[in-house]
Amino acid sequence: MIDKPLTKLFSPIKIGTMELKNRIALAPMDTNYANHDGTVSEQYHAYIEARAKGGAGLLILEVTSIDGKYPYVPNTVGMWDDKQIAPMRRLTDAIHACGSRLIPQISHPGPESVCFLYNVQPVGPSPTMCFTYKTTCREVSVEEIHHIVEQFGDAARRARESGCDGIELHSAHCYMLLGSFISALRNKRSDAYGGSIESRLRIHLEVLKNIQAKAGRDFPIVMRLSGDELTPGGRDIEETKYIAPILVEAGVHAFHISSGTFPQMSWRILPPHGTPMGLNVPYAAAVKEVVKVPVFTVGRINDPRLAESILERNQADVIVMGRALLADPELPNKAAKGQLDDITPCIGCGLGCIAGRETRMMTCLMNPSVGREKEMALTPAAKPKKVMVIGGGPGGLHAAMVAAKRGHEVTLYEKQDRVGGQFNLAVIPPGKQELTKATQFLAHQVAKAGVKVHLNSEVTPATVDKEKPDVAIVATGGEALILNIPGVKERHVVTAHDVLSGKVRRPYGDVLIIGGGMVGLETAEFLANPGHNPIVGRTSVTVIEMLGNVGMDMVPEGRTLLMERLHEAQVRILTNRKVREILKDGVLVVDTIVETKPDRTVVCKEGDKEEAIRGMKTIVLAMGAKSVDVLSAELKGKVPEVYVIGDAKKPRKALEAIAEAAEVARKI
Ligand SMILES: Cc1cc2nc3c(=O)[nH]c(=O)nc-3n(C[C@H](O)[C@H](O)[C@H](O)COP(=O)(O)O)c2cc1C
Repeated sequence: MIDKPLTKLFSPIKIGTMELKNRIALAPMDTNYANHDGTVSEQYHAYIEARAKGGAGLLILEVTSIDGKYPYVPNTVGMWDDKQIAPMRRLTDAIHACGSRLIPQISHPGPESVCFLYNVQPVGPSPTMCFTYKTTCREVSVEEIHHIVEQFGDAARRARESGCDGIELHSAHCYMLLGSFISALRNKRSDAYGGSIESRLRIHLEVLKNIQAKAGRDFPIVMRLSGDELTPGGRDIEETKYIAPILVEAGVHAFHISSGTFPQMSWRILPPHGTPMGLNVPYAAAVKEVVKVPVFTVGRINDPRLAESILERNQADVIVMGRALLADPELPNKAAKGQLDDITPCIGCGLGCIAGRETRMMTCLMNPSVGREKEMALTPAAKPKKVMVIGGGPGGLHAAMVAAKRGHEVTLYEKQDRVGGQFNLAVIPPGKQELTKATQFLAHQVAKAGVKVHLNSEVTPATVDKEKPDVAIVATGGEALILNIPGVKERHVVTAHDVLSGKVRRPYGDVLIIGGGMVGLETAEFLANPGHNPIVGRTSVTVIEMLGNVGMDMVPEGRTLLMERLHEAQVRILTNRKVREILKDGVLVVDTIVETKPDRTVVCKEGDKEEAIRGMKTIVLAMGAKSVDVLSAELKGKVPEVYVIGDAKKPRKALEAIAEAAEVARKI
């Protein structure tokens, strides 16, 4: 509960002729939920409608193609064909019934089109590298520009005929067509559409005019801009301040300000945990100084209290939330009621929403119901059962929470003295503390739902015999994998789990980490301290990885930042080396040849060059995890329903553990 009502956040605002009931907007996020012909699918409809029902005043739809060429994620909604109007109309009707407003983010994907998959070369202001796929685009001709300008107007007209309340024009991030034209980083033209900022803006002014002609001057237009591209040679905030009044004069009704470019500063566009909250607020505030129209801000504003304070300080007029509304579509309703502790937090992990999004549908670690709103709706259990959840990691906690909310009698057993499981280790490395929000939230909800929690309780078959549950959910997690390499049992060999948990004394001196996945790299950062420190001494870290690259199990934006920090901390990274033997003062490695097959499977073969890496005091194993499940086989036959979830089933990430928990807890 909060004492202070969020008055500003829940006050109305007008964007041109469009009135919003509050200041919370859903950020445009490509989902891969739409039909391939660009029509709104049932899945996309349900996803957006859930966010309107959750109370957001404005829904900005994902990047919405205007010409049938798809952006990065291929199944996105489109506005290039009249047949897209009817399904969009059904969506806008549903959104209006909730009292919310909806605008599609209309865009020409330009260099970021995946049309080359169909043997069509993407276009851009100039021939440049396409960021999302390793290909180049060709320079769009002036004749084609005229055609594209018409396409923008036609798309806006369709948006209006679909009942949309306006449109957003995507011109940010040195990305897609408009964002590329406006930035000198990609616009190298010497004709009327390139060179000075006025010329780089020409296509925008023509687009605005065409939209006004076809959709009406009163049809609200929001423009998304990078306040500052923060990339050498790119646009800066002074240029944005210069162009904002020109754009208002040309018909823009509001600005949606982010920052950064693809790919150099993409972490600012998709900011991972550990990056500052509200990181674009200063740029929105700067734009507000020069225009009278509303200015939106976006990026890591997950807490309604932060949103309120940004509005109170007059740094922005509308708060755009992306991942926070994936994690909890009900955030606005809960915030309005002061139920802040009940808001499922976004932890900025990016595992469900960002990683691999070009090949799969968007999901969310904290909320596996995203994109499955209908099928995952919580229904009361047909017959309340006695449910025993064994293991209090994120999977076990989530399963217990959902089962209890459905009316089951749930008891959770955790063998440690606190819940959280392997997540308690994941939060130890620098920049990861935000992940504690997940465990805190789940622990709070579990208690609130009436789950009986037994800590320091290792479950044995005898415990189960005594409890006689109808259902057992085995969520006993995983532990460090220790491969059988000669020397692995020596005293100077420890696991990353041991180091992070504090089970062993913090190693110092020269440390070698075997395994360059996320755990190995984060442990390297945790330990690295190349200078002298009177308390922990000097720690120089070397990481050895058998593949050709490290951190490949990480979200790209988080990986980029971690690699920069590891570089600063002078961590040495050696790839293409497989450890054959652990020596008293190092390791014996052999080189590897790594091949990626067309189906993306990776084959790693040993070469014949052996090498000894010596001078190491401690060897840390970060080779992955293995399942811990000593119970399920024993319980089958004794307990009517037995389920194994998460790492206990197969070592993966909390994303999978929670997804399986969500499924199982709905099934029982
Ligand atoms: C899965 C995903 C897809 C995104 N797709 C788009 C998009 O289509 N258009 C766009 O302008 N921004 C896109 N973004 C950026 C978001 O609009 C937003 O700026 C970003 O998520 C930061 O805000 P947040 O911290 O509130 O999530 C996307 C972000 C995510 C996580």
